[in-house]
Amino acid sequence: MGHFRRSVLGGLAVGIVAQSVMAGPYTIAQTNVGSDFFNNFQWENISDPTNGRVEYVTKETAQAKNLTYATEDSFVMRADSTTNLTADGPGRMSNRIKSNAQYNTHVAVFDIRHMPQGCGTWPAVWEADDTVGAASGEIDILEGVNDLAPNSVTLHTEGNCTVPSNRTQLGTPLSNDCSDTADIGNGNNGCSVDAPYTSSYGPVFNSNGGGYYAMERTSQFIRVWFWARNQDGIPSDITGGASSVDTDNWGTPIAYFPDDNCDINKVFGNNNIVIDLTFCGNWAGADFTEIGCGSDCILVNENPSAFSDAYWDFAAVRVYEGSSS
Ligand SMILES: *[C@@H]1O[C@H](CO)[C@@H](O)[C@H](O)[C@H]1NC(C)=O
Ligand SMILES: *[C@@H]1O[C@H](CO)[C@@H](O)[C@H](O)[C@H]1NC(C)=O
Ligand SMILES: *[C@@H]1O[C@H](CO)[C@@H](O)[C@H](O)[C@H]1NC(C)=O
Ligand SMILES: *[C@@H]1O[C@H](CO)[C@@H](O)[C@H](O)[C@H]1NC(C)=O
Ligand SMILES: *[C@@H]1O[C@H](CO)[C@@H](O)[C@H](O)[C@H]1NC(C)=O
Repeated sequence: MGHFRRSVLGGLAVGIVAQSVMAGPYTIAQTNVGSDFFNNFQWENISDPTNGRVEYVTKETAQAKNLTYATEDSFVMRADSTTNLTADGPGRMSNRIKSNAQYNTHVAVFDIRHMPQGCGTWPAVWEADDTVGAASGEIDILEGVNDLAPNSVTLHTEGNCTVPSNRTQLGTPLSNDCSDTADIGNGNNGCSVDAPYTSSYGPVFNSNGGGYYAMERTSQFIRVWFWARNQDGIPSDITGGASSVDTDNWGTPIAYFPDDNCDINKVFGNNNIVIDLTFCGNWAGADFTEIGCGSDCILVNENPSAFSDAYWDFAAVRVYEGSSS
């Protein structure tokens, strides 16, 4: 893992570094397919910092209740879809996992067949160090609530970090100030970019057989791409799960966060990959009534079968690291 801190080098070196940082090619550092996830990720048995109506179970419970399982080429994590909850008892059982390894500059490719859907769901694929919180920055790669497309890509930082409004990306910026005054997960704002396609999230994503998300983090920028599985022109290193990838061949990203006015090395530390599914809580609960999901997110307690499509199915998660930066 590259541990490069610009502040250590001082002003003069910054220009040199800026020129020496190359995007791609990157070489495979970790492949997660099928049961690899059980070795390379840990189940976070914590109370949800975003106040969801969830019980994040241990790996042992998740496996015993078949809320997670792997085949040769798929890794599934799903919500409990059989249990009625009691009003004052624990929330709906689900999984929150994070990578054992932490990453700095890298590329992560998520080959996803299905993401959780249903009213009250709040799934996310993101990177952060949740033992540190906002101080290590947060990159939300795939996240949303209540089946509402499109996906929003969001950075959350503790220190100053703004991005120019006219940058080259396919998505629509909602805010250009990435700083977060509140702790991560507590009514935070950050800088979001809405993906330009409804296929980027929820039911339409799933009906296309899912797709690919890729995130590149260097000391100069953070970029996120999305390709629906059934679209034309997906780079072959993405579809083929190649042992090296070249991000320069991936075209315009849906979201691009350059370092013009954001010291990426300062506001982002070494982070884990985190994948979770919560219910209601700060975001999905707040937006619940707006979109015809019913009157109150507490409906999550009953109708367990409404969560039968609330599952992740990953074909692969691959992490690549570069030789420079
Ligand atoms: C941790 O997991 C156990 C068993 O899976 C469960 O009983 C407990 O409620 C979980 N704790 C939290 C905080 O979710
Ligand atoms: C877990 O669920 C899957 C999908 O329904 C099923 O194929 C598999 O047999 C189940 N495993 C166990 C141990 O029950
Ligand atoms: C859950 O509770 C509702 C409302 O009481 C009831 O109609 C339903 O049959 C229950 N479902 C299960 C699986 O127990
Ligand atoms: C952010 O920028 C403002 C204005 O330039 C400055 O006063 C403040 O100290 C900065 N905060 C941090 C955490 O760098
Ligand atoms: C954004 O605007 C600035 C200032 O007007 C300009 O220098 C820069 O080239 C623009 N960038 C893009 C990507 O359009």
